[in-house]
Amino acid sequence: MFHGVRTVADTQDYLDRMIESQAADPRVVWELAVVETATGRLVGACDLTCESAGEGDLGFILSKDVWGRGYASEAARAMVRAGFDRLGLTRVFATCDVANPASARVLEKAGLTRVATLERHTFALGRWWTSDLYEVRA
Ligand SMILES: CC(C)(COP(=O)(O)OP(=O)(O)OC[C@H]1O[C@@H](n2cnc3c(N)ncnc32)[C@H](O)[C@@H]1OP(=O)(O)O)[C@@H](O)C(=O)NCCC(=O)NCCS
Repeated sequence: MFHGVRTVADTQDYLDRMIESQAADPRVVWELAVVETATGRLVGACDLTCESAGEGDLGFILSKDVWGRGYASEAARAMVRAGFDRLGLTRVFATCDVANPASARVLEKAGLTRVATLERHTFALGRWWTSDLYEVRA
């Protein structure tokens, strides 16, 4: 991920901001925990950030030890459905590093299609990253 490894202080700051975002009106950030049903363990997060009217930016991250079990696909599908049905969005989009085929596959399984490649899209961790842009419209 573009932020690299977080310190304890960074993590606390992130959690504080996420908790605060839950009370915003209108709520823009929907960052939800991904919890493994069988164990009750927190294994990741999936989010929709709705900074432009009617649009949500989809993201997800899973603990490495549970990769490949379909959790990200399940969470992404649920977020897309909730974005359209509950939040009234008309477009869900996501950007994904061109060298991240697992993320691209998750986006495709959630119904998104690649519509563009964004050259040198983000500067992070000391370098430029090129991303693919994915989207699905209601
Ligand atoms: C991307 C990420 C969320 C995927 O999580 P996951 O729970 O393993 O995803 P799923 O099991 O639901 O699905 C992964 C899919 O990618 C496929 N895949 C995994 N590695 C792959 C690779 N190297 N090449 C092609 N496909 C790959 C899997 O086969 C699976 O597809 P399938 O169900 O058709 O077989 C996880 O790797 C992660 O947290 N990465 C770091 C954070 C990140 O990159 N987030 C996305 C930012 S846009």
